[in-house]
Amino acid sequence: MDLRQAIVTVVSGALLVLAVAAGAQEHPPALGHAAPPRPDGTPGAETPGATPGTSRTPPPAAVEGMIERGAYLVKIAGCKDCHTPSRQGPDGPEPDPTRLLSGHPQDLRLPPPPASSEAWPTSISASNTAFAGSWGVVYATNLTPHRETGIGSWTEELFLETMRTGRHGGSGRELLPPMPWRNVAVLTDDDLSSIFRYLTSVPPVENRVPEPVPATTPGARLAAER
Ligand code: HEC
Repeated sequence: MDLRQAIVTVVSGALLVLAVAAGAQEHPPALGHAAPPRPDGTPGAETPGATPGTSRTPPPAAVEGMIERGAYLVKIAGCKDCHTPSRQGPDGPEPDPTRLLSGHPQDLRLPPPPASSEAWPTSISASNTAFAGSWGVVYATNLTPHRETGIGSWTEELFLETMRTGRHGGSGRELLPPMPWRNVAVLTDDDLSSIFRYLTSVPPVENRVPEPVPATTPGARLAAER
C-alpha cells in the first residue's frame, strides 16, 4: 500500500468510526421539523413555507442559491465519500466523477467481508460504498435524481422526513450505520432543502443499489460473530 492509499484508508476508517459512533448513540433527542434554536436561545429561522408538508416554490434565483449552498454542505458533510464509488486514479483511489453520488455499483460483486474482530469490527469495500459490521452488510444508496433507482421520485418533504427520523423512506426500517443521519438531522430545514435541491441537480445515474444483507445470513453473521 502506498502512502496515499494508506492515508485514504485511515481517513475513511476515521469517517466510519465517527459515523458508527454517531449511529451508536442510544437515545437521540426527539427532533421535530422546526429549525433548531439559535445559540442565543431564540427559536430557529422559519422561512415562509419551510415546514415539510407544505409546498415550496422559491423563485429561480433563490433555487440557484440553494443548489450552491447544497453543494457546499454536501462537500463538508462528506456525503460523496460514501455515496460515490471510488476508482483507481493515477494517485490512488478517488471518487469516480462519472458515477457521482450514484451509490454502490449494482454490477460490483464482492466476496464475503473479512472476519471481524473486537479490535477491528468493521470493513469497508475498496469502492468505499459497502460497509460490513455487526449489522451485516449495507450499501450506500443512489442519491442521484434517477427516477427508478435514485431519489428522482422523492419529494423534498420525504427527504427531510428521512433525514430527521433516520427511517428508510421517512417511516420504514431504521437506516443502518455508517449513514450519519443523526448528524445530518440537526441541520435546519433550509439546509436540508438546499442539500435536496443540489442532489436533484446532479446528472441522474441508473444504478439499483442492493438491499442491505442482515447479519443473519451466513457470510455476514460469521463476520459479525467472530
Ligand atoms: C460514512 C458513510 C456515509 C456518509 C458520510 C453519508 N452516507 Fe448516506 N448512507 C450511507 C449508507 C451506507 C446508506 C444506506 C443505509 C441503509 O440502507 O440502511 C445511506 C443512506 C442514505 C439515504 C437513503 C435513505 C433511504 O431512505 O433510503 C440518503 C437519502 C442519504 N444516505 C443521504 C446522505 C446525505 C445527504 C449525506 C451527507 C449529508 C450522507 N448520506 C452521508 C452512508 C453514508
